[in-house]
Amino acid sequence: MHFTLADLVTDITQNGAESGAALLELEISETPGGEFRFTVRDNGKGMGPDELKRAMDPFVTDGIKHPRRRVGLGLPFLIQTAEQSGGGWDIKSEKGKGTTVSAWFDAGNVDMPPVGDIPGMFRSILMFRGPGEIHITRRGRGGGYEIRKTELTEALGDLEDTGSLVLLDQYLRSLEEDE
Ligand SMILES: Nc1ncnc2c1ncn2[C@@H]1O[C@H](COP(=O)(O)OP(=O)(O)OP(=O)(O)O)[C@@H](O)[C@H]1O
Ligand SMILES: [Mg+2]
Repeated sequence: MHFTLADLVTDITQNGAESGAALLELEISETPGGEFRFTVRDNGKGMGPDELKRAMDPFVTDGIKHPRRRVGLGLPFLIQTAEQSGGGWDIKSEKGKGTTVSAWFDAGNVDMPPVGDIPGMFRSILMFRGPGEIHITRRGRGGGYEIRKTELTEALGDLEDTGSLVLLDQYLRSLEEDE
């Protein structure tokens, strides 16, 4: 299968964006030892224990968004990928409060998917409608960097304008290059 960790993180972050959250936070870190780790935190609708169990079950899907799909992707796919490649995961959710999803992957493991396009992923995530604010924290081999959607919008205008999109793309790629 051809998918990247960036695809997985985007999918999980999209759930946070669709949760009714005012604030969506994403942290991505890569250590020199080759561990890739991310945390997505939202203050959206959250899930009760049964709901969370269902969302983590690979054979259950709510049937609303994808009436013909029998197998859910999302969390079950994340769990399966992390476990198969020697990594791990942690999911906490509280009804009415929000959800936090973390997972980590060992770059030394042959079954770890490629990391993929990090700046491209940040761009997709910053375009998600819903949350009033999106914070991205990137920690890598260098000092890392932080992105706040409200600050970007102040500087570039509406991120969906064609001109802003090009600038946003250049800006995100330059951050990652200097990192
Ligand atoms: N961060 C979250 N906050 C609240 N509910 C969540 C969150 N993440 C997942 N869920 C619940 O789990 C369900 C399953 O999530 P999943 O990502 O597998 O499917 P989906 O988001 O409905 O569809 P898709 O991701 O394929 O577009 C969601 O419909 C939602 O009810
Ligand atoms: Mg989803």
